[in-house]
Amino acid sequence: MRIVNIVGARPNLMKIAPLMEAMRRRPGIGPVLVHTGQHYDARMSELFFHDLGIPAPDHYLGVGSGTHAQQTAQVMTELEPLFTELRPDVVLVVGDVNSTLAAALVAAKLGIPLAHVEAGLRSFDRTMPEEINRVVTDALSDFLFTTERGAADNLRREGIAESKIFFVGNVMIDTLLRHRDRAESLGMPERYAVRPREYAVVTLHRPSNVDAPEALAGLVDVLAGLQERLPIVFPVHPRTRNRLTATGLWSRLDALPNVRLTEPLGYLEFLGLVAAARLVLTDSGGIQEETTILGVPCLTLRENTERPVTIADGTNRLVGTAPERIQEAAARVLSEPPTNGRRPELWDGRAAERIVEVLASPVVAETPA
Ligand code: UD1
Repeated sequence: MRIVNIVGARPNLMKIAPLMEAMRRRPGIGPVLVHTGQHYDARMSELFFHDLGIPAPDHYLGVGSGTHAQQTAQVMTELEPLFTELRPDVVLVVGDVNSTLAAALVAAKLGIPLAHVEAGLRSFDRTMPEEINRVVTDALSDFLFTTERGAADNLRREGIAESKIFFVGNVMIDTLLRHRDRAESLGMPERYAVRPREYAVVTLHRPSNVDAPEALAGLVDVLAGLQERLPIVFPVHPRTRNRLTATGLWSRLDALPNVRLTEPLGYLEFLGLVAAARLVLTDSGGIQEETTILGVPCLTLRENTERPVTIADGTNRLVGTAPERIQEAAARVLSEPPTNGRRPELWDGRAAERIVEVLASPVVAETPA
């Protein structure tokens, strides 16, 4: 059985790692890995292959950056002949990036069964490119693997048949649990001259936060205030670096005595850094889930989340992007005792195994392409 797995951007890599491993262990499954090249900097891609022991991609499409239409179309144009040649039994996509959407469209139009890992998450905010990618990918998928129970409600509401939905847990947490000890042994706090549980980690990359200069300036003000209370380590995403530089805000941040700006970190380095933090401020989706397991309070700098289980059963708080609200929430967290890790249902390190079990079942092997 040939399963063609698609990755394109950084957050796809920690999701595909345990799946590739589980597929390679399973007799009768031949996994093929395709990297679209949506992310191409070594620190956004290669480093993660290395840290997570992902085999080198069988096919690299070298698509790179562009507008949404350009990027999506380019991935589609490259994938169509490749899928025609490879004749996969299943195409598997993860997450919600443009490469996920592009691969889903090509597979569906070629009549190839499509599996979506991390299906059914909804922010109900169509101004987020990822929300459009999620809705379309799910509509086209034959196997929808979900990370939290509420996701199935979202899918049913959109008319997805119950028989296509599989609640399996969270493959990103498979990866976290597997690498946590190694990450914590790296001594990341010392590397930035901060003490465990006495610093904050910040990540920002959503277009809504970083592309609008006023929004970005407001967030820089928040960091300027927060660093007076505790040091901040801020690994800067390339999109954010470009925006900070273009708006002149980079030099302002860099001049703050308690802010350490760094390049994007590798998987193990970042996990080691977050695991020992007192607080995380982020607009990432995945980090809301990682902090939940690690027991680190997370302030999500967005107006909505597609991952509500991280609030109900985790350490996440949705605080929006208004500077005063973020400052208040940070002050509240710092006045509370440190939290413990929480474990949402089925976030137990075995999600990839469950997915492979479903895909390897005889019913799937007989699905006509
Ligand atoms: C993409 C995903 C987003 C995900 C994020 C994680 C979409 C729509 N967005 O956003 O869901 O959370 O990845 O990182 O798919 N760039 C580089 N080097 C790289 C990659 C990008 O310098 O290796 C710069 C380029 O200037 C590029 C910009 O970052 O134009 C944005 O990259 P892009 O892949 O379009 O979106 P992300 O913001 O990374």
